[in-house]
This record gives sequence, structure tokens and C-alpha cells, in this order.
Amino acid sequence: MEFKKIFENNEAWIASKLAVDPDYFTKLSKGQSPEILYIGCADSRVTAEDLMGLQPGDLFVHRNVANMVVSIDLNSMSVINYAVNHLKVKHIVVCGHYECGGVKASLQPADLGILNPWLRNIRDVYRMHQTELDAITDSQKKFDRLVELNVEEQCINVIKTAAVQKAYKERGLTVQGWVFDIRTGKIIDLKLDFPKILENIMKIYDLDA
Ligand code: CO
Repeated sequence: MEFKKIFENNEAWIASKLAVDPDYFTKLSKGQSPEILYIGCADSRVTAEDLMGLQPGDLFVHRNVANMVVSIDLNSMSVINYAVNHLKVKHIVVCGHYECGGVKASLQPADLGILNPWLRNIRDVYRMHQTELDAITDSQKKFDRLVELNVEEQCINVIKTAAVQKAYKERGLTVQGWVFDIRTGKIIDLKLDFPKILENIMKIYDLDA
């Protein structure tokens, strides 16, 4: 990839925006009020806005290896707090994807250095669902299911935060779990029952009594 090409693409993109609305960038610079916080994988193939047909200003985005929400990760916690408390997003989407390299790595017995503690969180998801996953003999199906369960667990991690619990009570914030099927291009809604999950875990994780 040539950087020169990227800057040319950028000029063409600016022209295309201005052709539709000469004030496009003036309006864009005024501020943002996205309705959705998107937490996804850093994978180069899973481009949030592109695959959802959205534009600048539509999504507040956080991406990391395997779309993880870890309570001591200052980065994701800051993103969630800023999006919920200041931008007042209405929805939080955790979007995983099939063929996720991070999830795949967690299934391999290998010392990956600094990635170990990060991937350990995915191994923990495996352990929490070990009975179900061990029963799947097809390795591709097992891999796919771990991707889905990881999304579910990261949604639960989102729900464990005080900001989200408060916003749910006060203004009905929702949390959605999706998987991008990289083999077909489809976004699959895992249809997680957010209120039920919240009810189930609140006995332990309630921060807003
Ligand atoms: Co990935």
C-alpha cells in the first residue's frame, strides 16, 4: 500500500462529501452525538462503520484484540464511561467476528508473551462454558461458539460497570451482542436478553444500590 494513494483517496473523499453538502465538514466539526458505542475487534477486516453502512458521527468506537471488556483496562473503561456519562449513547454494541485471531490464539497451547494476560480473559470464557464447549467435537464449530460466548461474556462485563447500570435504570440504555460473519458479510444479532442477564448478575455485581 502506498501512502501517496491514501492521501489521494482522502482528497477524493473530501470532494465527494462537499459535492453533496458544502457545509459537511463545518457541521462535522461542531460536535458529536452518536447513539451507539461500538466495541469490536481490531481485526483489519472488521471495519465498523463500513460494514454497517454508517458515516462519521454515527458511532463511538473502541476496538482491541478480540473485542474484550476488561475491568482493569483503563482504555475500555474510559471509553465506556465517556460514551455513557458524557455522550449519553443509547446503545452499547459488542461485536465479535468469526475467524477471530485473538480467540483462535486462546485455543492454542502457546506462550505468546505480553498477549498471555490479554488472551487469558478469553481462556476464562472457555472455562466458564467448558461443559458446552468440550461437548462440541467439530473444531470449527467450537471456535465459532467460543467467539459467540466471548461476545456474551464481554456484554456481561459491560453490564458490570456502574455507569451502565445507572444509565439502564435512568434512561433504558441497552447492551447488544453481535457477531460479524466474515465468511458471508452478515451481522448476526445474538439476541441476548439484556434485562434478564442484568437481573441474573445483579445479586453479585450491583454497584448502584
Ligand atoms: Co478478531
